This record gives sequence, C-alpha cells and structure tokens, in this order.
Amino acid sequence: MDSIIVTGNGPLNGQIPIAGAKNACLTLMPATLLSEEPLTLTNAPRLSDIRTMSALLQSLGAEVSQLQDGKVLAMSSHALDNHRAEYDIVRKMRASILVLGPMLARDGHAVVSLPGGCAIGARPVDMHLRALEQLGAEMDLRDGYVHARAPKGLKGATVEFPFASVGATENLLMAATLARGTTQLKNAAREPEIVDLARCLERMGAQIQGAGTDTITVQGVDRLGGATHPVVADRIELGTYMLAPAVCGGEVECLGGNLELVGTFVDKLQEAGVEVSQTQAGVKVARRNGRVRAVDVTTAPFPGFPTDLQAQMMALMCTAEGTSVLEERIFENRFMHAPELMRMGARIDVQGGVATVTGVERLKGAPVMATDLRASISLILAGLAAEGETIVNRVYHLDRGYERVEEKLSGVGAKIERVNEQ
Ligand code: UD1
Repeated sequence: MDSIIVTGNGPLNGQIPIAGAKNACLTLMPATLLSEEPLTLTNAPRLSDIRTMSALLQSLGAEVSQLQDGKVLAMSSHALDNHRAEYDIVRKMRASILVLGPMLARDGHAVVSLPGGCAIGARPVDMHLRALEQLGAEMDLRDGYVHARAPKGLKGATVEFPFASVGATENLLMAATLARGTTQLKNAAREPEIVDLARCLERMGAQIQGAGTDTITVQGVDRLGGATHPVVADRIELGTYMLAPAVCGGEVECLGGNLELVGTFVDKLQEAGVEVSQTQAGVKVARRNGRVRAVDVTTAPFPGFPTDLQAQMMALMCTAEGTSVLEERIFENRFMHAPELMRMGARIDVQGGVATVTGVERLKGAPVMATDLRASISLILAGLAAEGETIVNRVYHLDRGYERVEEKLSGVGAKIERVNEQ
C-alpha cells in the first residue's frame, strides 16, 4: 500500500494546473446512457473514480475508450445489454447511483445496488428514489438492490427536493430530458457540476432552463443525440491548491482556475488574510508575512463554503492566529481528519458537527492515517507546513480524486514523495 511522505520545506512558489472536475465527470459519464450516439468528454481527470465509473458503464454494455492518455473519454451506448449495476462496483463509489435515472429514462427499467454506508455518514439515496417515483417510476427495494420500472416511460412532473442534493438533482435532470412533457425541479442544487451537466445535455439536444438556479425546468424530448463536451475545471482541486500557499506561505497560480467556481470560499480566504486574485491564466493566491487569522466556517450548498474543502480549511486553521469554529452541516461524521491533525500537535475540540480549532504556531510531523479523500489531502497540506516529516498512510483515497498530486506539489517546491510499502 502506498504512503506519502511530506516534509515542511518553506514557502511554495509557481504554477499548478487544475484538472477537469472529478464530480462533474462522474455525472457527465452516465449521461452517455441516455443516447445511442457517441458522447465524448474532453478535459477528463485521470483518477481511479473515473476508471470505476468506466467499468460500471462497460458492465452495462456501453463502450468507453480512454484516449490521449485518459484526458479524453469516448463513450458510446448504442445498445445496453444489461440494466443491472452490481453491488461489487456500486459499493466502491456512491456516484454509481447516477446510472439509475438515465437507464430508466431510456429503456424503462433498471436495477441498481444501493450504495450502502460510507465513511462520511449514512448518505442515503431516498431523495433520488422519491423524485423518480414522482416522474412515474415504480420502485421496489429487494436484496439490497433498487428495482425500478417505468413501463410506459417517465412522465414530467414538479419535484420539490427536501434538500438541495447534488446527486439527486443530477439523476433527475438526466431522467427528465427523456420524460414526456415538462419537469420542474424545485430546490435544485446549484453547484457548477449541475450547470456543466446541463450544458452537456443541451449539446445532446435536451431542453433545459434554469440550471445554476434553484428551479430547473426541463422540456422532455423523444431522443438525444451525440456530443463532445469539455469537463469544467475542478473547483475542489482548485480550492485545495489555493490553500497550499495559504498554509505554507508563498505565491501559487492555479492555471485554468476561475473564482466563480469557488463561491464564498474566496471570502473566507481573504478574511484570513490571504491574497487572492483572478488572472488571465487562472487564480493567483499569496500569503507573504506571518500567520493567517482564524475565521469561522459553516459548510453549505453552493455558493456556500463547500463541505469538500472543510478538511483542507481545517489544516489552515490549525496554525492560524486565534480560534476558529468550523461547522459541518452537509455530512455527519466528517471530522475524521481532526484526530490525525491532533497527532501533529493541532488543538481541536470536536463536539458533534462543530470543531473548534485553536491555532498553534507550528505543527509537527507525525505518521497519520488518511480516512477519506479530502481528509487525505488536508493531512498532506498540514504536513507541508509542519516541522519534520509526516507520513500519510492509506493514500489510495487520494488517488480517487487528485491527479498527480506529488508532481503538482513538488512542481511548486514542496518536498513530497510516494513510497510503496508492500
Ligand atoms: C456530491 C459530491 C460530494 C460532495 C457532495 C456535497 C459527487 C460525486 N459527490 O455528493 O463530493 O461532498 O455532493 O457537496 O458529486 N442525502 C440524503 N438523501 C439522498 C441524497 C442525499 O439524505 O437521497 C443527504 C446526504 O446524506 C448528505 C446530503 O444529503 O448528508 C448532501 O448530499 P448530496 O448533495 O446528495 O451529495 P452527493 O451527491 O452524494
């Protein structure tokens, strides 16, 4: 199993290229199931989650080819010869549930394993299922699988989500493109991934209004065609690398980044005393002197502070001046990085969904354990600013969501290496 060793090595300076968004790509890929014609995605990130989604689509009968070293995904779902998404693949990745809406909309039936529990909370899919029922699907839960049928096809309806779920909005948006009549999605998620999905579906011939607002209207069409679509830049990778010079000092330009993708996250960085600016090539971030100031953060749906940047922000707050309160409102049990950061000398008190962090002058390197994707990178950021060596174990989580992380960080002067411990 691989580990990553990082050593605090002073300020970071230079440029980091930002890849296409993992989460956007994971919802754009199942969109291929909606059409018999090819869908090609460019600017795809090269990550293990993308390979898992490829395997899932292939198991359903889709063809998926990775071209240009994996940066281009050429997909075709001419005929689906299997409508069953097996537990063995689905359990690896919750986003697998996104094949349900498209298969149901296209062929009127689908069987998908329930994703099951996950390290960052219960994460049920009830909202996906209830909303598809409102479009006329019949759902039956048996043997750990959702058996969904819509023998007469899906029918447009007004769906109001109890919470602006990203995945449920994506599943329903895809399903609604082929439903008869008009579907209105209320309290829809507004994340940039939703906008990117809508743009891609429009390229395929879908009729969609309001993506990026809380009400999306879809006029169903009989069939969708093929398209080529560039995956939007990864706002979480962007935010993570914006935090790197904030944690370590220095100046880093994140190439291909756009401040519009990170919502109010920027305000929090600036409040902490970090300089942020949009440049022609991307986003420039600098921290020149002294420690950052402690700021309070509450995670919220877009454009609020993203839950997927909470762990990394905590790494920054560990050495801030003052005390910061980080409140996690999207997932329960998403502070597993806190005890690991405490092994490095951080002062953190977790009470339910609230973590209080009292900044210390400097963290100290230690062996730590990565518990999930974002926790892993927060430990790397903390290690880069710590005194001595930090060994981050179980980094397979990292490879799910960060492409070439050692290369990108060493490119700006970080001392970081991967070791393979058999
Ligand atoms: C997506 C992202 C994930 C991010 C999250 C929130 C992908 C592949 N993953 O996950 O990285 O952290 O958005 O920005 O895009 N919920 C229910 N019932 C449902 C659906 C969700 O109770 O049917 C709950 C979840 O347990 C969670 C909250 O709603 O507490 C938010 O989940 P959701 O927005 O759906 O996140 P995902 O789409 O799973």
